[in-house]
Formats: sequence, C-alpha cells, structure tokens
Amino acid sequence: MDLDEDIRSLQLESTEDNNGAINPEDAEPGEVEKMDEVDEGWKEEIATNSHPVQVEQKGKEIAVPEEDGIADEMEEGTKRHLNVVFIGHVDAGKSTTGGQILFLSGQVDDRTIQKYEKEAKDKSRESWYMAYIMDTNEEERVKGKTVEVGRAHFETETTRFTILDAPGHKSYVPNMISGASQADIGVLVISARKGEFETGYERGGQTREHVQLAKTLGVSKLLVVVNKMDDPTVNWSKERYDEIELKMTPFLKSSGYNVKKDVQFLPISGLLGTNMKTRLDKNICPWWNGPCLFEALDAIEGPPRDPQGPFRMPIIDKFKDMGTVVMGKVESGTISEGETVIVMPNKASVKVVAILIDENKVRRAGPGENLRIRLAGIEEEDILSGFVLSSIAKPIAAVTEFVAQLVILELLDNAIFTAGYKAVLHIHSVVEECEIVELVQQIDPKTRKPMKKRVLFVKNGAVVVCRIQVNNLICVEKFSDFAQLGRFTLRTEGKTIAVGKVTDLPSNARA
Ligand code: GTP
Ligand code: MG
Repeated sequence: MDLDEDIRSLQLESTEDNNGAINPEDAEPGEVEKMDEVDEGWKEEIATNSHPVQVEQKGKEIAVPEEDGIADEMEEGTKRHLNVVFIGHVDAGKSTTGGQILFLSGQVDDRTIQKYEKEAKDKSRESWYMAYIMDTNEEERVKGKTVEVGRAHFETETTRFTILDAPGHKSYVPNMISGASQADIGVLVISARKGEFETGYERGGQTREHVQLAKTLGVSKLLVVVNKMDDPTVNWSKERYDEIELKMTPFLKSSGYNVKKDVQFLPISGLLGTNMKTRLDKNICPWWNGPCLFEALDAIEGPPRDPQGPFRMPIIDKFKDMGTVVMGKVESGTISEGETVIVMPNKASVKVVAILIDENKVRRAGPGENLRIRLAGIEEEDILSGFVLSSIAKPIAAVTEFVAQLVILELLDNAIFTAGYKAVLHIHSVVEECEIVELVQQIDPKTRKPMKKRVLFVKNGAVVVCRIQVNNLICVEKFSDFAQLGRFTLRTEGKTIAVGKVTDLPSNARA
C-alpha cells in the first residue's frame, strides 16, 4: 500500500486552494475598518504598543465587552491577521512554547510567571509553569495536558496572530481537528528529547496524525520547530536536529506538503525561550544560521483569501449577551455592521448588530478574521455549532447527502470499507454521524483515473468516490468552490480512518 501516493492523489495541495482568490497583499487595506474613524475616513495607523494579554478562559462563555469605550481601544490598524495552530505529539511543548511567545511579547509579567512557578511546584510539575499561561483550567494544570484548544493573541511587526494551542493527547483529537480547521498556518512542535521524537513519530503517534489532519484541514504552511534542544539528552546537538529533519521530510512530503515551499524547520527551546524572539547565540549553538521563531512567523505567507466572495462564517460557538452572539472564523467574503445575513441551514434572516475582533468593535471584517458577531432576529437556542452565517444572495448549500472522494487511511482492525459503513464526519465546525450509502467508483491512485471494475468494498490505502448521508441538514460546499468548507475527515472510535473532499452536491442543495 502506498499511502503517500494516495494522499497526494487527493490533490489537497495548497495550489488547489486558490479558487481564483486574491492574494492578501493585493487586498484592499480596508478589510478591517475602525469604528472610531469612520467619519474621518481611512487612516493607516500601525500600533506600536502590544495588546494586553488575551488568553481567553476555556470552557467558559466569553463575555462581550460593553460597547462604550471599545472604539477607543482600536489600535491595530491594518496589520494582517493569521491564525496559527500549534500541533504535535503529547508533551512536545506546544503550550510551553505558546506561553513563552506571550511572555516574550510582553504580555505576561514576571509576577504572573512567579505565581505559575509556585502553582506548578505545588502540583509537583515544576517545569510546567510556562504551559500554565496557555493551560488555564484546573484539569489541564493538574494533569499537565491540554484538553481544550487554548486561544491567545500576540503581534509582531507585520502581523496580528491568534494562537490556537491544540491538545496532543490522542483522546482529544476532535478538539485538535476543531483548532486546525480554524487555522491558516501551523507550528508543528517536535520534542528532540531522547525517545520522545521516536514515540511521537511512531505509527499511532500524534506527530503523524496531526500532520495528515492539518494538511487535510487546510493548514497549507508549516513551521516545524524542533523543541527541547536544551534538554541534557540533546544539548543543541546538530546530529539530533539533522536526524529529525531527515526523518520528517519524506513523511511531510507524503502528507502532501511541498517541503521546499511550504515547510520550514528551526531549532528552539520553548522552555528557555531560546531562538524565539532573538536569534541563537553562537555560544549556545554554533551551527544554526537561520531565523528565530518570531522572524519565521513574520515572514510566513498566509493563504489566499477572497474578501469579495460570498460571505461564509462557520459558527464554532454561541452565547447570550445582550442578544445572540456567535463566534467563528470568516472563510470567505466580508461582513458589515447593519447588514442582513442568513443563518444556514435553518434559513433564518438575521441582522448584524455588532462585530468584534478580540475586544475591539469594528464596522467591517474580511476573511481570516476570528469574530464575535452579535445578531438580532434569532434566539441563541436556534443556533448550533456547525451552522454557517452566509450571504443572502449566495447562501451556503444545505444537504443531507453528498458525493466525496475519500482516501482510506487506516480502518480499525483492518476492517473493510463498504456501503453501510458508519463514521463521524468532521467538516469545518460540523461534527455529525454519517453513513456511506454507496461506493460509486474506485480511483487508481497512480493514474488518478477511475477504475472500470464495479466496487463493493475497499481496504486501507484505497481512493474511492462514495455517497455519504447524514441525518440532519448540514452546510457544506464543493471542495473546488470553497476548499475550506469542502474538506473533511471521517473518524470511528476515536481514530481518523479517512480524509476526503466534497466533489458533488445534490441539485436541490441550494433550494
Ligand atoms: P499537551 O498539551 O498535553 O499535548 O502537551 P504540550 O505539547 O502542550 O506540552 P507542554 O507544553 O505541556 O510541555 C510538556 C513538558 O515538556 C513540560 O514538562 C515542559 O516543561 C517540557 N518542555 C516543553 N518545552 C521544553 C523545552 O524547550 N525544553 C525542555 N527541557 N523541556 C520542555
Ligand atoms: Mg499543551
């Protein structure tokens, strides 16, 4: 079985993501419009001071701030915005590195660090204090494992970043999927510590699963940070670093990444903050001449986006706060305050009362932004995560059935994949039970052509076109129209068994 070929044959390469969308650099600078400058027209102002720390509390409703005074806080001008997901095997150092980034960008003060040091020590987890910046709930701190995706914001000279700190433990892969599906780029954290790289990279290790999922979910660029370089078993060894790069490269290629164009490796110590904000000291590591993490993040190119496209924002969460507030990331188009849009699939017309980016109220927001939108005309109970806020002129398709091309990765106990197979479908923010109702045809992964023979069942590694049904109406798009809303994973019993893309929708999908 040549899994690599199969995945490639799915054509999930980043080039295909460009649905005639325009490059962010070519975009109008007006994607985010400041509330307090509307009357004066546009003023380009790049903030020089950083945001206050904004690690959002997990598992809690996040209160939308009072409207008064928000406008005055808007200072971010027209810096681009990128969502970056931290992925990798359990304990690789994702939360530690995320926490260190916040500390180095001046958002967490020494006193807070001292408090965390004490708390970590009390829990006999001395070295975990940096991770506490991202791991905010008690369970995570006691166990030393991220459960829910942590979110935080920081900025560099060119970019406003939202960090999504995914859990590495295999029990929480669905949370990782939800984090990665919101991301534009990924930081794959790998532990260089003796034995740890090996466990993560093994079959069944999350280094592999996360990379494959990230690619499927549209994370087109990866920074691979080789972490824990300070560990006594590594001690900034060039041999160890090279070994990891050498082993990871073919795997990344086979997962669909163009390693030359879309992947960059660099060594760091997340715990000590080495090679993060400033370049490596030659006394610590004489052989590294490349950039530090902040430089690499600054230089990374975001995905192409289309501010002129039909508006699409999958809803990831909702709550009540002076009306109904929905949260999500804009995948296409632009939304403006006062506009009327439609909540799909229940076709409810709603009015946009307020738009918030982080804590700041804005008049308009474009693709790539994480928003909270206050809506009028709908009750919070009538919205579920997975629903999509859409433009009225061109709403998203709502279906209970679609045709997809799948790559079967690894079936449980080498089971066979046939009509009647049930799995859990993860597509943008939708999580829904599904059933394969028909295998339409098998694709030869080598030639990418359909095979003539009738197909009744397939095994691991197969590429197959099939019809998939769900019980409730869900919002999806064809991959060729909106890649981000048309790529998905199938999971059974907590394991990813297939990745796929929507290739066809029923003709009444937009009725
Ligand atoms: P999950 O959220 O459970 O997937 O783990 P994680 O990837 O977020 O790892 P976390 O940041 O919680 O760190 C795990 C352990 O590795 C902690 O004990 C950290 O102190 C340690 N660690 C992280 N980064 C480094 C590093 O750069 N050097 C050393 N020596 N230890 C590190
Ligand atoms: Mg973590």
